[in-house]
Amino acid sequence: MAIYPGSFDPITTGHLDVIERGSRLFDRLIVSVLHNGSKSPLFSVPERIEMLTEAVAPFPNVEVDCFGGLLADYALSKDARVILRGIRAISDYENELQMALMNRRLQPGLETVFLLAGEAFSFISSRLVKEVISLGGNIGGLVPPLVEQRLRERLRAPLASSQAQ
Ligand code: PNS
Repeated sequence: MAIYPGSFDPITTGHLDVIERGSRLFDRLIVSVLHNGSKSPLFSVPERIEMLTEAVAPFPNVEVDCFGGLLADYALSKDARVILRGIRAISDYENELQMALMNRRLQPGLETVFLLAGEAFSFISSRLVKEVISLGGNIGGLVPPLVEQRLRERLRAPLASSQAQ
């Protein structure tokens, strides 16, 4: 069993790629949303959970949860020995290395397993997706359809000119 933690504000197809591949590596995968993370998230934790739950529906061994406080404590409470994280580029590595080592210090035996983002997803981030759609750009394929709809509603973003009929 493994935990895939994150902000997921909102989930992107890059996250979904990690979830799909992780679901094949572990018998059970818990995708867990951090609450009290960013001070000004675009979506509330229940909203993020709703979008995640819909997106992971095709994977029967994947469930969605949320957590607060230390990830290492949460992992212990779930009896999980593995944290799953995706790495897109070298710029992700330093922060991920620090977190993995800190988590292992806090909870010896807690291992972090990294999946390299698929090359088609390595440029996708929740932050950029929000910026592009809010400025009228096309984010088709970068987030699940429900997420695109929710982003459009939240940001009152019109269809991108390249998508308009
Ligand atoms: O999607 P993100 O924002 O990159 O995810 C970061 C996350 C949630 C994995 C990280 O911020 C986290 O684990 N926060 C919980 C608090 C904690 O345990 N901090 C110490 C980490 S070493």
